[in-house]
Amino acid sequence: MWEEDVRLMREAGVNVVSVGIFSWARLQPTADTWDFGWLDDVLGLLHEGGVGVDLATATASPPPWLTTAHPEVLPVTATGETLWPGARQHWRPTSPVFREHALRLVRTLAERYKDHPALVAWHVSNELGCHNVYDYSDDAARAFREWLRERYGTLDALNDAWGTAFWSQRYSAWEQILPPRLAASHPNPTQQLDFKRFSSDALKDYLRAERDLLREITPDVPVTTNFMVMGNTKGMDYADWAEEIDFVSNDHYVHPGPQDRDELSFSANLTSGISGGRPWFLMEHSTSAVNWQPVNVAKRPGELARDSLLHVAHGADAVCFFQWRQSAAGAEKYHSAMVPHAGADSDLFRAVAELGATLKTLAPVAGSEREPAKVGIVHDWDSWWASEQDSHPTALLRYRQEALDWYSALLRLGIRADLVTTRSDLRRHQVLIAPVLHVVPADLAKTLTRYTEQGGHLITTYFSGVVDEHDHVWLGGYPGALRDLLGIRVEEFGPLLAGDSVELDDATTGTLWTDRITVTADDTDVLVRYRTGEQAGRPAVTRRPSGRGTAAYVSTRLGVDGLAALLPRLLAPAGVESELPAEARGSVEPVVRRGPEGRFLFLVNRTDDAVPVPGLDGEVLLGDTGDDGALILGPRAVAVLRQPAS
Ligand code: GAL
Repeated sequence: MWEEDVRLMREAGVNVVSVGIFSWARLQPTADTWDFGWLDDVLGLLHEGGVGVDLATATASPPPWLTTAHPEVLPVTATGETLWPGARQHWRPTSPVFREHALRLVRTLAERYKDHPALVAWHVSNELGCHNVYDYSDDAARAFREWLRERYGTLDALNDAWGTAFWSQRYSAWEQILPPRLAASHPNPTQQLDFKRFSSDALKDYLRAERDLLREITPDVPVTTNFMVMGNTKGMDYADWAEEIDFVSNDHYVHPGPQDRDELSFSANLTSGISGGRPWFLMEHSTSAVNWQPVNVAKRPGELARDSLLHVAHGADAVCFFQWRQSAAGAEKYHSAMVPHAGADSDLFRAVAELGATLKTLAPVAGSEREPAKVGIVHDWDSWWASEQDSHPTALLRYRQEALDWYSALLRLGIRADLVTTRSDLRRHQVLIAPVLHVVPADLAKTLTRYTEQGGHLITTYFSGVVDEHDHVWLGGYPGALRDLLGIRVEEFGPLLAGDSVELDDATTGTLWTDRITVTADDTDVLVRYRTGEQAGRPAVTRRPSGRGTAAYVSTRLGVDGLAALLPRLLAPAGVESELPAEARGSVEPVVRRGPEGRFLFLVNRTDDAVPVPGLDGEVLLGDTGDDGALILGPRAVAVLRQPAS
């Protein structure tokens, strides 16, 4: 089949593939035997066919001989259960035994293929943390203590940071400290937050170990690993990982739902933010259905291309799929592929080949970077982790959903926005939206204040500014660290029960949360008030001038409709409006990349209907025009206009 595979790859325009991701047991059948013959053949065939190889280090899943000889590499859950072999990725990120065996494999592979002409990149492990980010084993406990020693230096500092005076938790020796295993009640919140930070760092440390070895053997071959910026994958702080690799790669799968393509755009956009606006590599997505959702919906005609090109619009310079050929056996046999069970004589393979041809016409786009949008949305892993912890005012808060709602509202208005992180250069954006920016250390508060003083417009929401980096509440009234900047004070939160809502005086509706706000500065404007509920008559949305900019606060969950209604007022001081013709607003997502070959305006049809997009200048690289020469986007279609670079 392999020769046929290479022939089909050429037909489809495939010029790079990932190889060997879960092949450890094939490459090293026993502790002392190796079998590279088959991989030599595969790489040879690919090279002859002009296909480059992103070669996996194959360490993602330990083989049965290893876990039988060393069951101590297996991860342990918070309740003390072992995750047994039989699926995949059953290894402890902190296991020295696992690391020794894995690095031996990496070294052997790298030595063997270091000069192979097909090798274009190294693919470390696979989706680090996909199934094993939280391990509560004794190895993890040991490594957690080392990490804590490094962070706090002394036990006193740790006791202070964790607030261990509470509930008799004071530690008198490092050995007493454990991961937050199943406890009688809520484990210490700072312990939980630090364990999340530690778990992300432990995987990052493992990534570095493989990377360092690869760089030693092949200093000129770029190293990557595939991130999972998507949906609710929150265990890995990718903003912190990005600088460890030579280029960012991402995997993305659509979770069917009302905002599914907005979520795709959000994730692709955030991947670009993590990558510093530089191009990145879409390592995996699906040609059609996946196999791991309760119901695995096939993609509709046009979605394969539209989804792919939406990633390209947000900076993907490679579009790859899991998987090449759909297997007849194994857990993923019902997962779609580029060559389906039906074979190459199929609509699906024809759509894949058509995409290959389309990507060829977009070659000038490769290498171009994201053109900063006027609006930035801040995504912060610490706030995501901390805001969703237990024993809070509400268990219903969903950090990423709130951010996605703001993003969807901007899409509906046809306004471009960039997902950025707290590590990004925030001054590039005239408006910064920071939904549920819960963790605000003193220096971040200063950065945001300076941002507004220098002319930036900050918009933040409920449950923001409440705690510092140790998850200690900023005292004196909420929103703590941002209280003075916003010119408001909240003495008590007013979370709402599921199903409850309040009306606001601009005819929008709030759910989830309300705040009892007192205005504390003379110049704080009340933009919207509560009309019903416990806070009736009190401020719901406020804005205050700060230096040359402003700082606004939205105290309830407005959802996409409410935010789309409110946003024009919030954006007015910055003069931000849609760049799209009125006919296209809401139906079309605009995204811009810019490089030496031009400014590329991507227009993505978000609807199932044809949408005219008149009045835009530029050479049509991709897309159809009507008799009058104006662009018309077919249902789910994408157009690309090349405009002069300056
Ligand atoms: C990813 C993984 C692939 C495949 C895919 C299925 O998690 O990297 O190996 O399992 O999902 O959607």
